[in-house]
Parts: sequence; structure tokens; C-alpha cells
Amino acid sequence: MSEPIIETLYTAEEIAVRNAALAAEIRAAGFVERPLVVAVLKGGFVFAADLIRALHGAGIAPEVDFMSLSSYRAGTTSSGTVTVLRDLETEVAGRDVLIVDDILESGRTLAYAKQLLAERGARRVALAVLLDKPGHRVAAIEAEFVGFTAPDLFVVGYGMDMGHSFRDLPYIGHVIVSK
Ligand code: IMP
Ligand code: MG
Repeated sequence: MSEPIIETLYTAEEIAVRNAALAAEIRAAGFVERPLVVAVLKGGFVFAADLIRALHGAGIAPEVDFMSLSSYRAGTTSSGTVTVLRDLETEVAGRDVLIVDDILESGRTLAYAKQLLAERGARRVALAVLLDKPGHRVAAIEAEFVGFTAPDLFVVGYGMDMGHSFRDLPYIGHVIVSK
């Protein structure tokens, strides 16, 4: 099998422009009083790193923490079986929380995360995703802030991987595997 070909979907420049616009949307939605950004590992880390700097540019100084979740799709409920592999160190009660992740697809993982942080007493929990893939939604969840509504393709780069590769690409691409 030859090397996969990666076709650019969103360039680094397009992503940067979108991040600045998202930060303005987040500010306009009232996330101004030291919100807590929860970056979901691993796929959300590059987006979160750029988004917090865009938030800084919009005059917002968030606190940042990290969460790692694993989702098993065999579950029968809409939320499936989600396990917290790495939990927050930060108390979320009374906070405005912004969960930041790479892709909203079935929504199982993020529906679980949103509910968990709400149950811990967050004042408000919103979701910022780089890509929305609405075609395969299982859980009843939408993101308040969406970078791009993506076509139903497998994508890599900008934090997103295929078999642990390609997270380092500065752009988002679609993988074409030729035989
Ligand atoms: P779900 O919304 O719970 O189904 O989970 C979406 C997660 O699946 C994302 O956070 C990614 O980790 C992974 N994922 C879904 N689609 C892709 C893709 O096209 N490329 C890389 N990872 C993906
Ligand atoms: Mg993920």
C-alpha cells in the first residue's frame, strides 16, 4: 500500500481567521468573567491552544484545564459508555465552562462531558468544536460554537490523527488511501 495522500480541506490561514471569529462569538455570548476552558485530549489540544490565544486577543483571560475521555460505541444508550481517563483538577461549581474539542460526530463523548460538568455545578457549560460532522449524531447535542461544518470525510491534522499520525499538520486534510 502506498503512502496516504492528504488533500487540504482548511488551510492554516482559514483556521486562524475562523478562530478569531469564534473568539468574538464566545465573547458576545458572555464568556467574559474568567471562563474555564476544558480542552479535551487528545484531539482538541491544538485547537484549544490556538483558541485560548484568540480569546486573549478578544480580551478574555480563561483558566485552562484538560480532560481525557474514552468512548466505547457498543453502548445501548445515546451516551454510550464513556470513561474519564484524566479528570479536571479544577473545581467547576459556579463557573462558566467552555469545553473545547476537535470533532462533534455522534456526540456521545461530549454529551457525557457536558452533563458531567453540569452535574458538578457549573453555572453554564458550552461547547466549542473545531468541526461539526452532523451526519452521524446519536446523542441530542449541538455545539454552541462551531469552527466549520465539515463534509462526511475522515480528516487529520491540526491535532486530529489517523493511527497516531498527522496530529502535527498545521492544516486540516482529508485522507485518501490509495491501494
Ligand atoms: P463522538 O462525537 O463521540 O462520535 O466522537 C468524535 C471523536 O471521534 C472526535 O473527537 C475524534 O476523536 C474522533 N473522530 C471522528 N471523526 C474523525 C475524523 O474524521 N478524524 C479523526 N478523528 C475523528
Ligand atoms: Mg476526541
